[in-house]
Amino acid sequence: MDVTFKVRRFNPEADSPAPYWQEYDLEMPEAGTVLDGLIQIREEVDGGLTLRCSCRSSICGSCGMRINGKAGLACNQSLQNTMPKDGGPIVVEPMGNMNVIKDLVTDMQMHWDKVRQVEPWLQNSGPEPENEYIASNEDMLHLNGVMGCIMCGACVSDCTALEVDKNFLGPAALAKAYRFVADPRDDADAKRLGALDQYGGMWDCTRCMLCNDVCPKSVAPMDRIMSLRDKAIESGLDKTYGARHAQFFAKSVKHSGWLDELKLPIFSFGIFNIIELIKMIPLAIRSQRAGKVPPIFHKKRPGAEYVTRIFEKVESRKQ
Ligand code: SF4
Ligand code: SF4
Ligand code: FES
Repeated sequence: MDVTFKVRRFNPEADSPAPYWQEYDLEMPEAGTVLDGLIQIREEVDGGLTLRCSCRSSICGSCGMRINGKAGLACNQSLQNTMPKDGGPIVVEPMGNMNVIKDLVTDMQMHWDKVRQVEPWLQNSGPEPENEYIASNEDMLHLNGVMGCIMCGACVSDCTALEVDKNFLGPAALAKAYRFVADPRDDADAKRLGALDQYGGMWDCTRCMLCNDVCPKSVAPMDRIMSLRDKAIESGLDKTYGARHAQFFAKSVKHSGWLDELKLPIFSFGIFNIIELIKMIPLAIRSQRAGKVPPIFHKKRPGAEYVTRIFEKVESRKQ
């Protein structure tokens, strides 16, 4: 089959280094993958094309890149499913949120630093067991999903919160943190959750779902972050801005069927946190100019009792 690749190139050693696009027309077997195509380009057309890969089987996590605007593994994307319907080129770029070293190779140091920050190893202060630490099958099955992470960085690449704040730990590191918080053999939960309760931690995720969407291993990092939040609140870490925001949000929707936007910042920051509330004024003015003015008197929506019932049902399942 005929395939066209449009590849984002960057050579830091060029006279005036700047990213540019380059197209390659190939004839490839129908069963090929995007990675097969890139390797064919490197071997037959342009030996200078730089990319990272190893296992070619979705195991090592080294071939992360953006394909048609979305991060993923080049080795598990078949040409058949990736070729645009209009016959246009397959567009390949380096991952986002990381510096590009050359062509499709990004510097993943920031990713590793963040993972290291969550101390990704078992910590247990109790006496060492005679043989091994015992964990139930059920507990380990629950962890299986998150342990499937291959550290490819696809979620980090497309994380919208990380895009605006490099201090955010990001989906891969937070999913890794959950892996240890939820491990019954680890007893450092309080310390771990306390560290994640800070600026840049679990409350900074905007729940855009992109990490869940792009993860090639179904780790569902966003769901793990939400579970971390639940565990934090259950363990009494409910005073930070993020925790208060989440609690008031749920309380408002539960009782009235919709969000009381006027009270949300007051409850989130706390009525006496005048400085933070004053900082909200420009946003309030911009919202007002855009015609987004929450009512002063928040009233229940018709049918709010059904919403309340949904909340009660979910809450009873959690107990
Ligand atoms: S859901 Fe949260 S962690 Fe995942 S990509 Fe969006 S902002 Fe990032
Ligand atoms: S969570 Fe998924 S996308 Fe993120 S690094 Fe792990 S395997 Fe890759
Ligand atoms: S080459 Fe190993 S995951 Fe793609």
